[in-house]
Order: sequence, then structure tokens, then C-alpha cells
Amino acid sequence: MEIREKWDSRTAFIMASVGAAIGLGNVWRFPYVAYDNGGGAFLIPFFIALLTAGIPLMILEFSLGRKYQAGAPTAFAAVKKKTEWVGWLALFAVMMIFLYYPTIMAWCVNYIVHSLTLKWGADPNHFFVNEFLRKSIGPSVLGSIRWPIVIGLGIVWTAIYLILRKGVKVVGKVVKWTVAIPWAILIIMVIRGITLPGAGEGLNFYLKPDFSALLDAKVWLAAYGQVFFTLSLAMGTMIVYSSYLPKKSDVNNNAFIISLANSGTSFFAGFAVFSTLGYLAQTMNVSVPEVTNSGIGLAFITYPTAIRLLPFAGAVFGVLFFIMLLTLGIDSAFSQVEPFVAGFTDKWNLSKKWVLRIVCLGGFIIGLIFTTEGGFHWFDILDHFTCSWGLTIVGLLECIVIGYIYKTDKMRKYVNSISEFRIGKWWDFTIKILTPLILGISLILEIYSMVTDGYGGYPAWATTIGIIVVAILIVMSFVMMKIKARKENK
Ligand code: TRP
Repeated sequence: MEIREKWDSRTAFIMASVGAAIGLGNVWRFPYVAYDNGGGAFLIPFFIALLTAGIPLMILEFSLGRKYQAGAPTAFAAVKKKTEWVGWLALFAVMMIFLYYPTIMAWCVNYIVHSLTLKWGADPNHFFVNEFLRKSIGPSVLGSIRWPIVIGLGIVWTAIYLILRKGVKVVGKVVKWTVAIPWAILIIMVIRGITLPGAGEGLNFYLKPDFSALLDAKVWLAAYGQVFFTLSLAMGTMIVYSSYLPKKSDVNNNAFIISLANSGTSFFAGFAVFSTLGYLAQTMNVSVPEVTNSGIGLAFITYPTAIRLLPFAGAVFGVLFFIMLLTLGIDSAFSQVEPFVAGFTDKWNLSKKWVLRIVCLGGFIIGLIFTTEGGFHWFDILDHFTCSWGLTIVGLLECIVIGYIYKTDKMRKYVNSISEFRIGKWWDFTIKILTPLILGISLILEIYSMVTDGYGGYPAWATTIGIIVVAILIVMSFVMMKIKARKENK
């Protein structure tokens, strides 16, 4: 059996995990969720969620990977044979993400080119929806393939393949760049943003606390949801990255460093986004909420609008902005593929080279669905199911397996024996009671709203397909567990 690869240094591991965590979610999702849920006051539930659920679960995932030196399924199998499927489910959840995440990056590749001429013109919304995506009327109409997006997708998958091909040593080197470049650009964007007229108004909206929001249960659920999403938890990523740690590496301190670096980036990104929105509102003579656009619209519609109105060098800031998104996304993208590949190679001792080739090619081919005119709808539906169902179900199962089957005190003793500082009994409480409780409530509310309102105004048959996909993946996880591992592996 081959010796497991190792990170070159502690920095390489931290950078890779920070790179996995910091992604598109920090730039568009955090500012928007914060704004929607009490502005500045949102930082309180967010920080509490970070301490009571995000960091504890990250410690849990790091300990699992570090202890069993294996990807998610094999690590769960080592805890108890019958729980191996939880690991597979995590990998199927991350598979759903890596099928569509590269599509957004393919858009970024295109938008870098469009920025050169500010091609979106006076109506970026029309350009994005009707000219770029040529979005169809609904999920039933796929229409034809959009070749510019396919080219972008090809570039992204090739990059993922080339980076992962040579193993974690190369990943460790690449992440130094893919973490530093977007950060450097973010600093430029913040300086540009806060020196624009009207910036103060925008920041006021971002930071002005609305303390009454703290009494709203929804705000707390949003905070926990955002923490799980932004830290890339419940997807097998952190388990596999920590499985490449050399013996005697710390866990607790690393988990704190990575979580705080990620959240700090989110907070900082809010300054770039909201100062620019303030400027946009002033230029268009409207209020800040009127220009605030959620999700993808922020990056591909609102920001381009602002870029075109900049007093000078709009094209330069446009190119920088989309390079930032691309470099933010790429280290998250390969951190989604790696755990999936490792799941197969760890269990069946397969050749990593071949599994990686097949996964990259398969990811590209299935990803073609999202490059069609109707692809946007499917991207939206899949994203919703992965983030609000997949993540919650896997997170809940992880807590149950470690909390009640493996037992938290055993895990805590192990992790304390290798870490730079010790965690106390509070950790047991968060894993056994608090986090499962919050995730359980979220899941029930989510199922309820799916049954009563559906999702995003899509027809019931389309969301039913989403539910069927989730069900198939759960069944598949059991099937994977039942297929025997190769003898020489164990
Ligand atoms: N954290 C990533 C972001 O903020 C998104 C993400 C969720 C992710 N789950 C993941 C990235 C798993 C890598 C692996 O954009």
C-alpha cells in the first residue's frame, strides 16, 4: 500500500483549508445575508454560530481525518462500519456542488473578457440574462448550448485537473497564490469602494445594527446556515485535507485560525460590496436597498453596473473583480473534487490518476447541462437542494455519529492530546445537543416550506426532481457502503 501523501508544512494545510472555505460565498453571500438579517447586528448571531457550531464541527472533521488518515467514507467506516454511508453522503453532496460551481467560474472567465470593453453596456441585467445566458423561460426548456460558457467550463476543469494531478504538494503551492491574489484585489476593491461618493451611505446600511432582528428565530437560522456554508463543512473537504496532516499536527488551533480568517474575509468583503452599492445608489439617485440584489445578480448585474459608472479605469476594475472571483473560486472548486476522488482511492486502492481523469471529464460533461439556455434554472434548483438539504442532513448525521456512537469525550481526549490548546466539555455539548438541534429545526422548516410553497416559483415537477435526486443519493450511499473494499487496503 502506498504511503499517504502529506502537506509540506503547516502553512500549506492552513492555506489550503482557508482557500477551500473562502469562496464566492464570502463575497456575495455573506454581505447580502448580513444585510437581510439585521445588518450590523447580524454579526452577533454569526459570531455565536461560529463559536458554537462552525468551529466545533470543523474540529470534529479535522480530528476524524487526522486520526484515521483517510477520506470521509473510510474514516466513518473506521468509527463504525455501519456509518460508512454518512461519509459517502458527504461526498455525494460535494459532488452536487462541483457539478455546478465551475459553471459560475465559467461565467467569470467570460466576464473577464467582457470587462475589457465593458460589453454589458447600459443594461447589464438585459445583457446577463438575455444575451449572455439567453435564459429560457423555465426548467423544461433547455434550448441550445452556449458555447462561450462551454469554453469557460473547459478552461476551469482543465485547471482543476492540472492542479490536483500532482497531489497535495502542488495544491499546497498553488493555494498560496489563490489565497493571496484575491485578498490583494479585495484590498484594492475596498479602497476603491470607500473613496467613492455615497460610500458612507452604503456602509451605513451594511453596519447599522437592527437589534430587534435578534429576536427573530429566522435570523439565527440564517447565521448558522451561513456559517456551515462558508466554512465548507459537511462536505468531506475538511476531513480529507486533515487526512494529509503529518502525525503530531495540531487540530484545535488550526480550526480557530482557519475559521476566523474566513469570517474576517467575509466581513472585509462587505466593505467593498456595500461602499460600491452606496455609490451606485447615489449615482442613480435611489436608495441603497433598491440597488441591492441578492445572490448571483450582485456579481453579474449590480457590480457590472457600478463598474461602468466608475469615474475612471472601469475596465481595469472590472477585470480585477472577475479575476478575484475566479481565484476565489478555484481553490474551493478543487477542494470539492479532491474529497470525492479520495473517497474512491482510499476504499478500493484505485489509481488516483485514473479516478481523477474520469471525475474531471465526467464533471465537465454533466456540467454541460448548466451551459444550456435552461441551465440557469437547474443550477438554481440544485444549489438550493445541496445547500439547504445536503449540508443540513450530513451535518446532523456527523454530529449523531460522533456524539452518540463514537462518543464526544473520547474524541475530545484524542484531539486535546495532539493540540496546542485544549477544548473543554462545552465542545461535547455543541456536538451532541446544540448543533443537531439547530440543524434539525432548519431541516424541518425547510421541508415544511418545500411542501407548502415549493422553491423559487418553479413548477412542482422540477422541485420534485430535486427531492428524487436527494433520495437517490442517499440510496447510493448505502450501495457504496455495501460494495466490498479491496483486501490489500486494510
Ligand atoms: N465555502 C465555499 C464558499 O464560501 C462554498 C462551499 C460550500 C464549499 N461547501 C463547500 C467549497 C465545500 C468547497 C468545498 O464559497
